Amino acid sequence: MSDDIYREIILDHYRNPRNKGKLLDADVSIHDSNPLCGDEIDIHLKVHGDKVKDIKFEGRGCAISQASASMLTEMIMGKPLTSVKDLTKDDILENIGLLNLGPARIKCALLSLKVLKLGMVKYYTDRDPDSAKKLETDSTSL
Ligand code: FES
Repeated sequence: MSDDIYREIILDHYRNPRNKGKLLDADVSIHDSNPLCGDEIDIHLKVHGDKVKDIKFEGRGCAISQASASMLTEMIMGKPLTSVKDLTKDDILENIGLLNLGPARIKCALLSLKVLKLGMVKYYTDRDPDSAKKLETDSTSL
C-alpha cells in the first residue's frame, strides 16, 4: 500500500477510534504517558481462558499515538495472550504501515504497545513471574 493510503487509515482511526472507552469488568487497567509530550493512553483488558476477550482504550494525544492504540486493539482482540505478549515494535510499525518514522514519532506509535506491555506485566506478576519480568524489560525498551 502507498504512504497516502496508510495516512488515510491512520486519520480514519484517529477520527473514528475503534474500541474506545472504559471496560468496567477489566482484569487489568493500566495508564501511562509519553514523558516527552504528556500524551496519555489507558488500556483495559478482559481475559478469558488464554485469550483477549475484550480490550478498550482511552487516550489523549497526537494522531499517531491514538490511531496506533485503536489499531492495536483491533490487532489483538480475541488473540491468545502468548502471541500478544510477544508483540514487537516492528509488529506495530508494520501494522500501522509507518516503517520510516523518526525517533520522536516512533515513541508516538509505540506508546500503546508500551502501555499494553505494562498491563501484561501486571496481569502476569502473580501468574507467571518470568513472563512478567520479560515483559517489563520489553516495555522499558519502547
Ligand atoms: Fe505525544 Fe505523539 S506527540 S505521543
